Amino acid sequence: MKILFVTAEAHPLVKTGGLADVCGSLPLELMRHGHDVRLVLPAYPTALARARDLTCVGTVDIPLAPAPVRVLLGTMPDGQVPLYLVDSPAHFAREGTPYGDERGQDWSDNAERFAVFCRAVTAMALERVTPGWRPDVVHCHDWHTGLVPALLQLEPAATRPASIFTIHNLAYQGLFSYSKFQDLLLPSGLWRPDGLEFHGKMSFIKGGLVFSDWLTTVSPTYAEEICTPRLGCGFDDLLRRRRDRLCGILNGANYEEWDPGNDPFIARPYTAQSIESKAENKRHLQESLGLARDEESPLIASVGRLVEQKGIDLMVEAMSELMERPVQLVVMGNGERRFGSALEDAARQNPGRLAVHVGYTEELAHQVEAGADMFLMPSRFEPCGLTQLYSMRYGTIPIVRRTGGLADTVVDADATNVAAGRANGFVFEEPTQPELLRAVDRAIECFAETPGTWRQIATTGMAQEYSWTRSAGRYRDLYRGALCDRPA
Ligand code: ADP
Ligand code: GLC
Repeated sequence: MKILFVTAEAHPLVKTGGLADVCGSLPLELMRHGHDVRLVLPAYPTALARARDLTCVGTVDIPLAPAPVRVLLGTMPDGQVPLYLVDSPAHFAREGTPYGDERGQDWSDNAERFAVFCRAVTAMALERVTPGWRPDVVHCHDWHTGLVPALLQLEPAATRPASIFTIHNLAYQGLFSYSKFQDLLLPSGLWRPDGLEFHGKMSFIKGGLVFSDWLTTVSPTYAEEICTPRLGCGFDDLLRRRRDRLCGILNGANYEEWDPGNDPFIARPYTAQSIESKAENKRHLQESLGLARDEESPLIASVGRLVEQKGIDLMVEAMSELMERPVQLVVMGNGERRFGSALEDAARQNPGRLAVHVGYTEELAHQVEAGADMFLMPSRFEPCGLTQLYSMRYGTIPIVRRTGGLADTVVDADATNVAAGRANGFVFEEPTQPELLRAVDRAIECFAETPGTWRQIATTGMAQEYSWTRSAGRYRDLYRGALCDRPA
């Protein structure tokens, strides 16, 4: 099958979170299953710099773009996955993230930017830009790509590719005003309640939710949750109506990049058999972050975007109580300034015990996973979550709230699960401070008083198989099903 994989980010070209990890790994895994997969992204400066062997293979005129948009073809940095870049310098030649400037302010023309991207991708999918390669399936990810299924369904069913839309996070919807909709020069028929209109605004993600042939999301539990008012973000009714077209496929982890036995970023590689070498990584991390050298106290880590989704507000509220316990804490991430400043204040009040790194580097993320004992993830919702999977692989025991992909991957260390040898973490139910602290206390007690059980939980996590192999097979089956649905 020929698959066009459409995304706003892919590691190692450009990354703000797990979307990039997924889109950087899944295409290669699908290629290993024998499919002809091509990735397409906007031509951001870092993508242009990191991609290999780019040449211009066509141009497309898009009403919103001041000049013909060039389509470049090359490969990902690994030299394996073919990569298209949609090159409209007026929209993408900027420093910053894919969505905003370095201070975190969204670009004011994001609607135009991703509309240009989606228009170019639609033309490519219909073989109007690059003759000779016509995808059978167009697989789109998150709101930035939501106009592609909307534009494709305007074409005769027999001549367009099947479309699949994956929801990585329903909370980001690409909402813009009606006048923006008019500026985008989209077909006016798309403005209707069962089209792109959403409570008087235009919603990019709705294009994917309404018009794609199949919908997926990144864990079975999140697939259930988004069909309820609590986590449906206003789309639960629509999603319930499309329930027979929605499936939850758990993300995989890229164990080639996240392998404690072979990780160029960490001080001392280790495996489940040599898990005591984690201690050296812990010492190294304590030193590099200015934490006191302390082998006795557990080191708790948090790596993630500083947003309410991740329960950072809960962690901030619980900070003084957390610091009353015999623990050290390292928090790394960037996001909302209020959380960054609150955490930095707390770090000043707890020198040597709380290290805060506002920002993100891949290198430090690996060192934290290797050096910490526990990984705290009190998410209010979590479509899948990858960091808990990386933590498990590194023998760093996750403490998580039971939601979305966390519910699907972390097995609580209650007496029954421990006895059965399947516990791999600590799970709590409600996003409240007392519940979070109770889970942390259970983990501290286990760490301090039953080291044998602690080791068992850690090595159970390390042995867990959340690789892409199985999930890629599920996507392959879905692509096949989508093609069988097509008119002959
Ligand atoms: P999400 O996608 O919701 O941020 P995931 O757990 O799925 O959460 O994926 C997070 C991925 O992004 C991990 O590889 C993590 O190391 C990385 N990451 C975490 N915080 C940041 C950040 N501020 N900037 C870039 N990448 C980040
Ligand atoms: C989103 C979700 C996260 C998921 C990631 C990759 O960013 O917040 O839970 O793991 O996408 O699918």
